[in-house]
Amino acid sequence: MIHSLTRPPLAPQRAPGPGFGIPGQRMLAFRRNPTGFLTDLARTYGDIVRFPLAGQTAFLLNHPDFIQQVLVTEQENFTKGRALQQMRRVLGDGLLTSEGGQHQRARRLVQPVFHHERIASYGAVMSAEAESTAAGWEEAAAMDVAQAMNHLTLRIVGRTLFGVDLAGQETQVAAALDDLFVLSDPVYLLLAPLFAWLPTPTARRFRASTEFFDRLIYGLIAERRRTGAGNGDLLDLLLASVDEETGQPPDDQFIRDQSLTLLLAGHETTANALAWCWHLLAAHPESEARLHAELDENLPDGKLPGMAELGDLPFTRAVFSEALRLYPPAWAIGRTAINDCVIGEYPVPAGSLVLMSQWVTHRDPRYFANASTFRPERWLTEPRGARPKFAFFPFGGGLRVCIGAQFAWMEGVLLLATLARRWQLRAVDSRPVATDPRITLRPKEGLWMAGERRQ
Ligand code: HEM
Repeated sequence: MIHSLTRPPLAPQRAPGPGFGIPGQRMLAFRRNPTGFLTDLARTYGDIVRFPLAGQTAFLLNHPDFIQQVLVTEQENFTKGRALQQMRRVLGDGLLTSEGGQHQRARRLVQPVFHHERIASYGAVMSAEAESTAAGWEEAAAMDVAQAMNHLTLRIVGRTLFGVDLAGQETQVAAALDDLFVLSDPVYLLLAPLFAWLPTPTARRFRASTEFFDRLIYGLIAERRRTGAGNGDLLDLLLASVDEETGQPPDDQFIRDQSLTLLLAGHETTANALAWCWHLLAAHPESEARLHAELDENLPDGKLPGMAELGDLPFTRAVFSEALRLYPPAWAIGRTAINDCVIGEYPVPAGSLVLMSQWVTHRDPRYFANASTFRPERWLTEPRGARPKFAFFPFGGGLRVCIGAQFAWMEGVLLLATLARRWQLRAVDSRPVATDPRITLRPKEGLWMAGERRQ
């Protein structure tokens, strides 16, 4: 049932939630274990929880209908949450962080690089890059698979959207991105407005990394201007565009903001999802065996898979879906309410932070049987419409839904297929793998595994 946001509250009571408690205590609990903290709130207080967080009134929504209201039905009443607003310091008016008309213009402009036919042409690059990664692995040598996936997806986004080979720069890009992720910490979020001049090591690294990305992206733009148009990739599209309102070409800052956003949003998330796939497969040999059987049967003769082969790989896709469910790379989405509104029965005042957590909702036993168990076959056997749409929302929803979702689905399936055909990976560290929920959900301290060659 959709509860109207515009309906006046039946009773102007507050949503359930914990009291104010000791100042700072809640923020510490959130910092220590954000996903655990949100899960506890949801399981204790129910579908909507009100709690104070870092100087803001926050609401956690744990019902798919409420999530749909905020992301879709009443999306005009919400802007991005505080963390993404602060990311504007780095991503400027890029697609992820811009709002309103500016966002819609940017989205229309960038959309063609994600059209179906173009995405299809990226398939060959994806599996060729995966094949060359597979060729570089050594039998029984311990490696950080999370890092390997990150390097691989960065090279793919470099080649597909920017027409450049970023091989050799992956470590620097990853380190610079790490420095920006400090904004996922509520304490640093409060300090972010001072980052431009604070003399602390964290603020200095933040500035240095922003400058690094500026040099990288402005370098790519200058190079493309020098060499002339490429093959119709993102840079070509941006450089040839004109502003709908002024009829003028966009300035370099605009091109930089869109490019940097896609470079960063376009690789780290998929890399994390793939890392979690390897972790889950190693822990579930029966699923791994079924995956191998599908690959051996449907990808004979060493043929590299592309978009045309996706339909032959349903179990591979189910593995990727199940990893997105259990370890959603975007583990929470935040919004700020513009005007007072009502969610469920409860008033949500203007300025409140509204949180929707994929981590919490995807593990809710009301929508997923054996919710904490890795069961890829659930995606093959359960009928469509078995659960509410927003019980599973790894890519968000509404106008701000991930523009790269189709890209990511294809990349996830093709990379997993190409690599798993050649290699079987096993954990080399007996310690349990912990999650590190920052802006994205990563394995803490990497994911150390060793490979056994299959083909
Ligand atoms: C498994 C991989 C991915 C996941 C889980 C993911 C998740 C998300 C989510 C949840 C959002 C919405 C954020 C919000 O509403 O606040 C988003 C937006 C976005 N994503 Fe992705 N994403 C992935 C891959 C990609 C790829 C491959 C690209 C580009 C090549 C990309 C580019 C973007 C951009 C530009 C936005 C902002 C869209 C807008 O606001 O119009 N993402 N992503």
